[in-house]
Amino acid sequence: MSQARKIIIDTDPGQDDAVAILLALASPAEIDVLGITAVAGNVPLALTQKNARIICELAGKRDMPVFAGCDRPMRRKLVTAEHVHGKTGLDGPQMADPTMPLQDQHAVDFIIETLRREAPHSVTLCPLGPLTNIATAFERAPDIVGRVQQIVLMGGAYFEVGNITPAAEFNIYVDPEAAAIVFGSGVPLVVMPLDVTHKALTTRARVEAFRALGNEAGRMVAEWTDFFERFDMQKYGCDGAPLHDPCVIAYLLRPELFTGRHINVEIETQSELTLGMTVADWWGVTKRPANALFVGAVDADGFYALLTERIARL
Ligand code: BDR
Ligand code: CA
Repeated sequence: MSQARKIIIDTDPGQDDAVAILLALASPAEIDVLGITAVAGNVPLALTQKNARIICELAGKRDMPVFAGCDRPMRRKLVTAEHVHGKTGLDGPQMADPTMPLQDQHAVDFIIETLRREAPHSVTLCPLGPLTNIATAFERAPDIVGRVQQIVLMGGAYFEVGNITPAAEFNIYVDPEAAAIVFGSGVPLVVMPLDVTHKALTTRARVEAFRALGNEAGRMVAEWTDFFERFDMQKYGCDGAPLHDPCVIAYLLRPELFTGRHINVEIETQSELTLGMTVADWWGVTKRPANALFVGAVDADGFYALLTERIARL
């Protein structure tokens, strides 16, 4: 029997989502990806589901089930991020359209069915985009909430405040109502906010290490990074860009690379000015109960060494 941890990756690729998916697919001894569910986010759903299949094909996993989910946030208009990820969401290298099929089942139904079928507390959810699919599944099937082992997600910020508004990080901002459902669900949460991802910067040497692997996946990772880092380097004036979403999968593989605090995190859903803010009680100034391990630091060299070693396997 496989000892690999069962996960569902919920995603809106996105170059950094793509690297996260490759990291998971390159690690079958530790991670058993039951399916990939696409959500609207960085780009509309028609592109995120297509990009998810492009990435599976690149990893040689044409049999990975990929599902399309919600095409807009629960109660708001979709906000996208082509200004960061390009028109396709995966701008950078030229990539052929995928030929592997998209599953007929809706992503939300797949999430519900999987959590009901698998043993309680045996499936971890790994959201890398807006939380619409996960929250919709929780709302539609409350019986599955208590069956989730853990949610390890990329989203939010505290000391780094916002990247899409001065107060909010993109994934949470796009669907704050969904985020509020997930953060209030009682499921054990591990949160990778900008506070940690902004410490996992691509540098020239790190990108060149991907390119030097000599395989197709290494070249793609380098070219995606070349494309999207221009935006953050200009914005933050730093030497590289944060590789956000792979932090989620790296945490599953090597949790000791990360440190954080068990704290209370609430989501702002009312204020226009601070919509989607993750109000993180880092200093413990309230008596609100802890609902998340909010990660603040990463061993960046260890993180990139892990990524490079795993991408080399593809
Ligand atoms: C998050 O937003 C997206 O642009 C990235 O893929 C990442 O999930 C960072 O704020
Ligand atoms: Ca993402």
